[in-house]
Amino acid sequence: MLIDYRSDTMTKPTKAMLEAMMNAAVGDDVFGEDPSINQLENLAAAMFGMEAAVFCASGTMTNQVAIKCHTQPGDEVICDEGAHVYQYEAGGIAFNSGASVKLLAGDRGRITAEQVKSSINPDDNHKAHTSLVCLENTSNRGGGSCYDFQEIKKIEGVCREQNLRLHLDGARLFNALVEKNETPKQYGETFDSVSVCLSKSLGCPVGSLLLGKKDFIKKARRVRKVFGGGMRQAGFLAAAGIYALQNNVDRLKEDHCHARQIASALEKKSFVKTILPVETNIIIFALDYPVTAPELVDKLKQKNILGYAISPDRVRLVLHLDITKEMVERTIEAIGKL
Ligand SMILES: Cc1ncc(COP(=O)(O)O)c(C=O)c1O
Repeated sequence: MLIDYRSDTMTKPTKAMLEAMMNAAVGDDVFGEDPSINQLENLAAAMFGMEAAVFCASGTMTNQVAIKCHTQPGDEVICDEGAHVYQYEAGGIAFNSGASVKLLAGDRGRITAEQVKSSINPDDNHKAHTSLVCLENTSNRGGGSCYDFQEIKKIEGVCREQNLRLHLDGARLFNALVEKNETPKQYGETFDSVSVCLSKSLGCPVGSLLLGKKDFIKKARRVRKVFGGGMRQAGFLAAAGIYALQNNVDRLKEDHCHARQIASALEKKSFVKTILPVETNIIIFALDYPVTAPELVDKLKQKNILGYAISPDRVRLVLHLDITKEMVERTIEAIGKL
């Protein structure tokens, strides 16, 4: 039995999801004629209380399309220094939007309204025009940390006052929603655009959604086309998304519970120096010298457990749909014997 904690993108579609995909009604989405894609976009927009949605190939695409739509070349985007939009999207903000970035040192990926306020450039010809703030919830590099919604509202207040747009990279937003008992509508009311991934803990093979106002999504469809992301009979993929939104959200709590159980097993080990507080489905822990992350990952691999060395001394384990209770028990036993 291989137990793969490298990422929550490792999930394979379940039988029930595959069945939903096989039975999907499809059409040409570039013509707006794919009934399953239309259904998924309408379902997501209704969930978030937002006007419209567009289905894209990836979370990188929904983020990059949003940034392109919200900015002009030469503008500046504010985000946390560990934000996915900056760290892991291949320089897309510069490449696609010609925008610069102001990086803030947040607390495990979370920035504050005060930080945002003091980072907005003055109206001065020497300075880039600050036009967009991007938040990430949960934060990947922050170890699945969740924002306090009150802080998000404060950031929204600053954005409204200063005429900035506010985008959410909600690749793992559903993890935050179930953990904090929040609703999609709270986020829909607050952000100008929201990106959510279906291919992470929700268990789909492909897909992300970008949500926003009707005119924003109209523009986003055009940008998606320019980026080469127009799709045809992708309703087979959308059907997986509909299935996931209807069946795979509530169960995320199990992943969070499993993550806490594994973290408490790790806490007992002398080679573990620190563990980031486990808030959702991600565990990031640092090792005490001389044990290195690649060494520990290798040891785990010998026990058929896969983890990810995110730096020379830090390991990441991510819980997801394909990790069962039995696998977690085996993992805890294996950690005990290390
Ligand atoms: C926070 C965050 N945003 C965006 C993405 C991008 O998603 P994708 O891999 O679908 O491009 C990821 C992927 O891991 C992520 O962790």
